[in-house]
Amino acid sequence: MMQKPRDRLFVALDVDDLKSADMLMNRMQGLVSQYKLGAQLLTAAGPEAVMHVRRRGSGVSYDAKFHDIPNTVETAVTNACRIGATIVNVHTSGGSDMMTAAARAARDVAKKLRQPKTLVLGVTLLTSLTQGMLGQELGVRRALVNQVVHLARLAQAAGLDGVVASPHEIKAIRKACGPRFVILTPGIRPAGHARGDQKRTLTPGQAMAAGADYIVVGRPVYRAPDPAQVVRSIYQEMEDALA
Ligand code: C5P
Repeated sequence: MMQKPRDRLFVALDVDDLKSADMLMNRMQGLVSQYKLGAQLLTAAGPEAVMHVRRRGSGVSYDAKFHDIPNTVETAVTNACRIGATIVNVHTSGGSDMMTAAARAARDVAKKLRQPKTLVLGVTLLTSLTQGMLGQELGVRRALVNQVVHLARLAQAAGLDGVVASPHEIKAIRKACGPRFVILTPGIRPAGHARGDQKRTLTPGQAMAAGADYIVVGRPVYRAPDPAQVVRSIYQEMEDALA
């Protein structure tokens, strides 16, 4: 993948309304060209938020994390593709049939509307989960990294374009699923930034060096006094790691 750092960063727009989203995007105008929209903004502003960011000329990763029966997920992914999401995600734990339905929906919309195909990614394990939580709460006995690789393989076999995983699992997924399988990773913390609720974090440079295609950064950017400055230093770190 030969894209510039700019094409490989999504800034999370975790705000409560479109006005705040616009204010944030204005501060990064000309610098950031892709945003990640998730539960926070979408429950407040709805799908209009996706269309709004697209109209501003930016790419959108629609962090929907759909997890439902196949028919429901198929129609939801269809709608996400129709409103122009560049990327949409579903939970791999929804199973193979659900993921196959999601992949089919994206292909069908691209064909019907003659627009670029929305990438469909499978969320493996949330970056806020730990090995202890996996065993004690979810009853999964496998080592966390092995469970992530298992879910990534399932996603690939179901026809998804890639997965969402923590930076700690990038190398193992790459090895198991090959160079063309897309890996998008949140849980990114530039040096000196608070981890917050994220448990499995790495810096932007480390994530690039490990083989991530895309990184998602939220709080370290939107809570900074000067978001543009943080973005510039992230790009620099990414560039250094890729050089
Ligand atoms: O603020 P922070 O950089 O931790 O934001 C990460 C973003 O990525 C959040 O919006 C979160 O919902 C999302 N995300 C995540 N872990 C996943 C999938 C998405 O943290 N597995």
